[in-house]
Amino acid sequence: MPRQIRMSQFPEARPPREVWQFNEDGVSEPRDGEVSVRIDWLSVDPGMSGWITDKPNYMRPVQPGEVMRAFEVGEVVESRSPHFDRGDWVTGFLGLQTHGVYRDRLLRKIDPQLAPPQIFLSGLGMTGYTAYFGMIDIGRPASGETIVVSAASGAVGSVAVQLAKQAGGRVIGIAGGEEKCSYLRDVLQLDGVIDYKSGQLADQVEALTPDGVDLYYDNVGGDILDLLLTRMNYKGRIVVCGAISQYSETTPTKGPQNLLRLVTHSLAMRGFTMKDYISRIPEAVDVLSRGWEEGSLVFREHILDGLDNFPEAYEMLFDGRNNGKLLIKV
Ligand SMILES: NC(=O)c1ccc[n+]([C@@H]2O[C@H](COP(=O)([O-])OP(=O)(O)OC[C@H]3O[C@@H](n4cnc5c(N)ncnc54)[C@H](OP(=O)(O)O)[C@@H]3O)[C@@H](O)[C@H]2O)c1
Repeated sequence: MPRQIRMSQFPEARPPREVWQFNEDGVSEPRDGEVSVRIDWLSVDPGMSGWITDKPNYMRPVQPGEVMRAFEVGEVVESRSPHFDRGDWVTGFLGLQTHGVYRDRLLRKIDPQLAPPQIFLSGLGMTGYTAYFGMIDIGRPASGETIVVSAASGAVGSVAVQLAKQAGGRVIGIAGGEEKCSYLRDVLQLDGVIDYKSGQLADQVEALTPDGVDLYYDNVGGDILDLLLTRMNYKGRIVVCGAISQYSETTPTKGPQNLLRLVTHSLAMRGFTMKDYISRIPEAVDVLSRGWEEGSLVFREHILDGLDNFPEAYEMLFDGRNNGKLLIKV
C-alpha cells in the first residue's frame, strides 16, 4: 500500500514531532505527460525546517495537510510521457511517500550505471553541488590560504573541505565530537580540526589560525560565525551556506554581533541557494563525478531504513547524530 507523511500543522514546539502524520492513500493513475514513480531513497535535509514554517523562505512553505516536501530518487513504474520509460531512474522533489505521480518536467533522469542511486542525493546530488558552487564559485579558495569550514564532517561540509584542500588551502574543520574530528583528521587529512563541543572554542580557533582566516565557509551561523568574524583577514570572504544553529521552527533567529568586521576589514560575505546555480549543475556533476571515480573525493553517507524513521532522522540533524549525508532507504 502506498504510504505518505503529511505535515498536519505548522509546528508549535521543537522538535516538531507532533506535526508528522502517516497515511496510506492510494495513488492515482498517470495521465498524459505524467509519470508514476516508486521512491527508493530520500534525502533528509536541514533546509526542511524552513519549509515547515509559515515564514518567507526561498521556497513556498508546505501547507498543513500536504505531503511533506523532500528530495528523492526513484524508479519509473509507469510512464505516459515521451521523455521517460518504465525502469528509468529519476530524481526531484518527490515528497515524503513511497509512490507518487508527477509531471514529467519536474523530474530529472539519473544513470544508475554511473553510481549507486543514493549518491545522486549526496556527493553527486544537491549537497555536493552546494559544496562545489559555495566553495569554488563564491569562496574562490586559493593556494596557501587559511580556510575554515563549519559542520565540516556533514554532507555539504565534508565535500567543501575536500575541494578546499584540492585548491591548496590550509583547511581547518569545525565539528562536534571526537568521532567526527578524527574522520576529518585521519580520513580527509585536514590541516587542523576543532571540536566545538569540547569547550574553549575561541582558544582552539586562535591556536589553529595564527595568521587569521582568509575564507570561512559557514554552515552553522550563531556563535561560531560571530567568533570567526573576529578572525577574518583583510579582504577575507565568508560564504553563507547555512545557519543550522539558528534554524528553529518556533523562535526567532539571532544575528551576529561582530558584523562591523565587514567594514573594518573590507570583508565580502555572500549567501546563496542552489536555485542560483540550476543552469550550471552539469559543471558540478562533471567535477564531482570525476573526483569520485578517481577516488580523490569521498562521500560519506549515513543511512537509515524505512520511511517511518523520518521524524527521528530529522531530529538527528539538529543534535548532530548523523555522520555524513543523512539518507533513508525507503
Ligand atoms: N545554501 C544552500 O543551497 C544549501 C543547500 C544544502 C544545505 N545547506 C546548509 O548547509 C548546512 C549543512 O547541511 P547538510 O545537509 O550538510 O547537513 P549535515 O552537515 O550533514 O548535518 C547537519 C550537521 O549540523 C551540525 N549542527 C547541528 N546543530 C548545530 C549547532 N547548533 N551548532 C553547530 N553545528 C550544528 C551537526 O554536526 P556537528 O555534530 O558537527 O555539530 C549536524 O550533523 C546547513 O546549514 C544547511 O542548511 C545549504
